[in-house]
Amino acid sequence: MITPTYARLTQKSDLTSVCLTVMHVRKLVWIVVEDSDTRTYLVAKLLARCKVSSVHLNVVTPDYYKHDKWKPRGVLQRNAGLSWIRDHHSIDNCSGVVYFGDDDNSYDLRVFEEMKETKGVSVWPVAFSGGVKIEGPLCKDGVIDKWHSGWGSERPFPIDMAGFAIHLCLLMRNPKVLIGRDRQNRLSKPGYLESNLLEQLVDKDLLECRGPPDEAIVWHVKTAEPDIPREHNDPSDPLDIEV
Ligand code: UGA
Repeated sequence: MITPTYARLTQKSDLTSVCLTVMHVRKLVWIVVEDSDTRTYLVAKLLARCKVSSVHLNVVTPDYYKHDKWKPRGVLQRNAGLSWIRDHHSIDNCSGVVYFGDDDNSYDLRVFEEMKETKGVSVWPVAFSGGVKIEGPLCKDGVIDKWHSGWGSERPFPIDMAGFAIHLCLLMRNPKVLIGRDRQNRLSKPGYLESNLLEQLVDKDLLECRGPPDEAIVWHVKTAEPDIPREHNDPSDPLDIEV
């Protein structure tokens, strides 16, 4: 599981929640990639405490990496995670499944069970994503019945990043495929990260529906910015407590 993360007041709380989930998943390797020019002490300590096998990487998103006034989130970080995985596997040693699990989502443990069966690309809908109650494929009898989204239904794959998992062999057979570019190698348009990745890997007809048809198993919750108007940034403030 590749998790991009960046410094903010709720970073530690978000990563702690994800840690408490992934600790229960057998054989999971948690690749945490900081959007930062260093690997921070805060994240290093958290990973050291978290009882899961982890890899700690960093790559900063430069300011110029913006277009159409949109800053793609977590792109260089997920690609750093993909490169690490590709560097540590080969086409003959590619059992496993890759999942992009953002740090501000909640995960039911069943999503990790479901993705283990992935042959190519598995999919399920994600709650609270894209301005609707649940976005992505709605399945019936194990096949996609319809897609539901609040915007961009013309996207080749109207699905959130947390709504799919990819077999590692598929990624190894397509060594040049990364996130953030379309098939013509142009920068992805806003909201097209997922589609541009998946269209390079799989036909829509071959997507594997997973998860219960009538329940969400991943939530794009997005932790609210803490409301702390009475806090002040006085350098003489004796408060030196990591939150
Ligand atoms: C949605 C999707 O859920 C994301 O997976 C997708 O990357 C994003 O849209 C997009 O299209 O750019 P959104 O709420 O916009 O999500 O993004 P966040 O959940 O705030 O960020 C996605 C991930 O990137 C998080 O793990 C976050 O920690 C990380 N991130 C965010 C960074 O590494 N750097 C940043 O500057 C911002």
